[in-house]
Amino acid sequence: MTREAGMALGRLSERAFAVVAGAWPVEPPAPDDVRLLLDSADEATADALKAAASRARDSGLGPRLVARALIEISSYCGNSCRYCGLNACNRLARRYSLSEDEIVESASRAFRAGLRTIVLQSGEDGRDTAELSAIIGAVKRAGFRPDAVDGAGYPAVTLSLGERPEADYAAWKEAGADRYLMRMETGDRELYAALHDGRGLDSRLACHAALRRLGYQLGSGIMVGLPGQSVSGIALDLASMAGGRYAMLGIGPFIPHPDTPLGDETPGDMGLALRATALARICSPWSWIPATTAMASQERDYRVDALLYGANVVMPNFSPAYARGAYAIYPGKRCAAESDDEQRPERATDSLRRLADAAGLAVDPGRADDAWL
Ligand code: 5AD
Repeated sequence: MTREAGMALGRLSERAFAVVAGAWPVEPPAPDDVRLLLDSADEATADALKAAASRARDSGLGPRLVARALIEISSYCGNSCRYCGLNACNRLARRYSLSEDEIVESASRAFRAGLRTIVLQSGEDGRDTAELSAIIGAVKRAGFRPDAVDGAGYPAVTLSLGERPEADYAAWKEAGADRYLMRMETGDRELYAALHDGRGLDSRLACHAALRRLGYQLGSGIMVGLPGQSVSGIALDLASMAGGRYAMLGIGPFIPHPDTPLGDETPGDMGLALRATALARICSPWSWIPATTAMASQERDYRVDALLYGANVVMPNFSPAYARGAYAIYPGKRCAAESDDEQRPERATDSLRRLADAAGLAVDPGRADDAWL
């Protein structure tokens, strides 16, 4: 972008212009500049953010798209996050727990489609620690490629199982887990406390610290458009996440679930979520950033838009069909409507290639490990 084009953005300050024009990572972006850009809903800002975010992604990680297979292993949850449809107080939620065989079979379908990362996600279901260790080992073995020449014979296993004691995280690392996803959701302490009964942000950050100590590749992230969330709060979150050098960052719009206390609240704004994705990319050039399922579950599928705003990961759902429908964090989840047919290896590969083509990216079949190291 030329300086003239930057100045034509008019409402942008000099320093905000530096952010979109790519002065970072020489100079970290200031939250005030990030806030200004988050607040600019005009087309010129959108174009500038797309260009700057794509450049940051391509210079940090290359113009690549990677896919991670998501398997939702249980919808039981003992936590009571007020935004989430799986919260313990929702008596209408459908609860299930996949057996080891079901999980390994789902993972095997993902391996046949060429994916090299399996994400095992659940509510805080209290599953036995050793049972989960056995599942991790079984998934790693099921994906082993004896002929791998790139040193990546074993697939990556990512866990997203919520807050557990450090000893559990240690046991799962020992069993072969590589990564852990746990969004901070919001870094605004008061808002966090209002959204989570009986648990504060410190407990989540303590889990992050434990996971890092144990050598996990760590993912964080936030929801955008939570009731009571401010744009300056989002800007602070993006700056603090950049400082945290997370291997992965997930950002998605808040979607009200009718059977939760936030059921009547306004949904998060898609434009704001996309600008937050672009700014997360600009602030964190080496993080893997997904075009999230929440972005696919709007009035249309916004995943290609997210890729154009700097994302570089998609997470196709490989849960069994009955589980995809029941795992209702929010309503209208895109993959819930998909048939088993969508998971056939050739279909999964096709749809990945289509997304990559539409965003001008090349499909990368590798594990896509932490790139900050
Ligand atoms: N809308 C959007 N995202 C949600 N999540 C949970 N509930 C909702 C909702 N109602 C997100 C949280 C969580 C991730 C698994 O899903 O950020 O970390």
